[in-house]
Amino acid sequence: MKDEKKQTMSGGCPAGTHGHGEAYGGTIDTKTDALLTYASYLQVPELLRLQKPQSQPPHHDEMMFIIIHQTYELWFKELLHDLDAVTAAFRHVAESAAKRDEIYEAARLLRRCTEIMRVAVSQFTILETMLPSHFLAFRGKLEPASGFQSEQFREIEFLCGLKDEKLLRHHDAAPEAMAALQRRLREPSLHDVFFDALHTVGKLKAARPKATDEERALAVRDLYMDEQHFRDWIDVCERLVEFDELVMSWRLRHIQLVERTIGMRSGTGGSAGSSYLRTTLDKKFFPELWEARTMLEQPPQ
Ligand code: HEM
Repeated sequence: MKDEKKQTMSGGCPAGTHGHGEAYGGTIDTKTDALLTYASYLQVPELLRLQKPQSQPPHHDEMMFIIIHQTYELWFKELLHDLDAVTAAFRHVAESAAKRDEIYEAARLLRRCTEIMRVAVSQFTILETMLPSHFLAFRGKLEPASGFQSEQFREIEFLCGLKDEKLLRHHDAAPEAMAALQRRLREPSLHDVFFDALHTVGKLKAARPKATDEERALAVRDLYMDEQHFRDWIDVCERLVEFDELVMSWRLRHIQLVERTIGMRSGTGGSAGSSYLRTTLDKKFFPELWEARTMLEQPPQ
C-alpha cells in the first residue's frame, strides 16, 4: 500500500530542498515512489507547461500576459479558500455566540485577504510595461475570451454578497463554472453570515432577512461605540472595510490599465470596455460598514 509509505513532512520549506533533506524522515511521492522533491511537491513541470501563447509566431509579450492572468487566478483561488473559512467562522458565531476564537480567526484570515489584494492591485504595473501597439499585435487572437469569464472573480463577488444573476450568461459555455456560481448564488454570503453573527451577539435587533439596511448600519455603529466590549469585532469590521477598499482599488487600477492599453475600444467580451467598467466602480460588498461612519455620534467631551 503506497499510502502507508507516506510520512509527515517537517520544516517549512517543501521537502527540505535547502540541502538538509536527510534531517527529515522524508516523504515518498506516491506518484513516482521517489522521495518528494521541490518540483514534485509543487508540480513545477506541470505548472510550467500551462503557458500556451495563441499568437504565431508567439509574440514576446504574450507570455507575460498569460502569466499575469494565471497569477491572478491563483490569488483568487487563495482568496476564495480564506473567505470561505471566514464565512464558516461567522456561521459558527451565528450558531453559538460564545466563540471568541472564531472572531480572532476571521480577523487573522481577513488580514491575509487584504495583503493578497494589495499585491493584486500592485501587479497591474507589470502589464503596463507592455506597449499598446504590442498588445494589439496579438489581441485579435484572444477573442472572444474575456475577463467576464473569470469564474473565480465572480465567485468572490457572489461570496462577498454582490450577487448579480445576469452575469451568469458569460459562463453558458462552462457548465462547471456555471454550477459553482449558481451554488454561490444560493448559499448565504459572507455579508449574510456576518450580520447573522451580529444578531446572535445581540447587536442587530431584527434577524437578518427582516433587518433593513439602516438597522444593519446602526448595528455596526453600535459596535464602534462600544469599543471596550467589542474590540475584536471592530477589528474584523476594519479588515472588511479594508478588503472592500482594496477591491475598489483593483477595479480602478484595472480600468486605468484598460484605458492605457486599449483606450476606449470595446472589450473582447462584448461590453463597451472602459465605459462599462466605470459603472462597477461604486460596487461595495459591505455598504453598511461605510454607512455606519456617517451615523457615528461624537463621544461625550
Ligand atoms: C491588457 C490587459 C487587459 C485588458 C485590455 C482588459 C480589458 C477588459 C475589458 C474591456 C473588460 C470588460 C469586459 C469585456 O467586454 O471583455 C474586462 C473585464 C474584466 N477583466 Fe480585464 N483586461 C486586462 C487585464 C486583466 C487582468 C490582468 C485581469 C486579472 C484577472 C482581468 C480581469 C478582468 C475581470 C475579472 C473582468 C470582469 C470585471 C467585471 O465585470 O466587473 N483583466 N477586462
